[in-house]
Amino acid sequence: MKIVLVGYMGSGKSTLGKLLAKKLKISFLDLDEVIEEGLEDSIPNIFMGKGEIFFRKKEHEYLNNVLSKKNNFILSTGGGTPCYSGNMETMLTLADHVFYLKVSIPGLVKRLLLEKEHRPLIKNIEDEDLPEFIGKHLFERNNFYLKANHIIDCDDKDPESLVAEIEQLL
Ligand code: S3P
Repeated sequence: MKIVLVGYMGSGKSTLGKLLAKKLKISFLDLDEVIEEGLEDSIPNIFMGKGEIFFRKKEHEYLNNVLSKKNNFILSTGGGTPCYSGNMETMLTLADHVFYLKVSIPGLVKRLLLEKEHRPLIKNIEDEDLPEFIGKHLFERNNFYLKANHIIDCDDKDPESLVAEIEQLL
């Protein structure tokens, strides 16, 4: 079974993906890590050195590789993955389930204020400007996220209950 998790930065894709993979006894893949291993560089460095367009091309390439060559996995994607190069359509075609982990703007702000630094798209945004940035960004990205097969409302729920909720939908 191929399961893909999508959602904004800080929505808990990796945390939940790892837990779910353990529960289902299948492997867990993090697309950002796959890219970092493949390019032997960190995401912030790739953004800084080669720019976002280069990153998006590689993200598209590695996503297609994983989806077409591997079987039985949970794949956690980057926050922007579904929004470029027809990636959402590819995921919906090649995966068995695509889950959108939906977190409210205040919820995302709370989580991302604590972990802005290693995220190139938000690290230079002042803390007080973060709610407006996330609000606008999410408004654009929601069109893609909402195409997912399942929408999981993640606010105020612990990871274990979210895993149980997802399991019931498989
Ligand atoms: C990005 C999110 C990041 C990473 C890159 C771009 C985005 O992944 O892919 O920094 O465009 O939202 P996370 O969602 O895991 O932070």
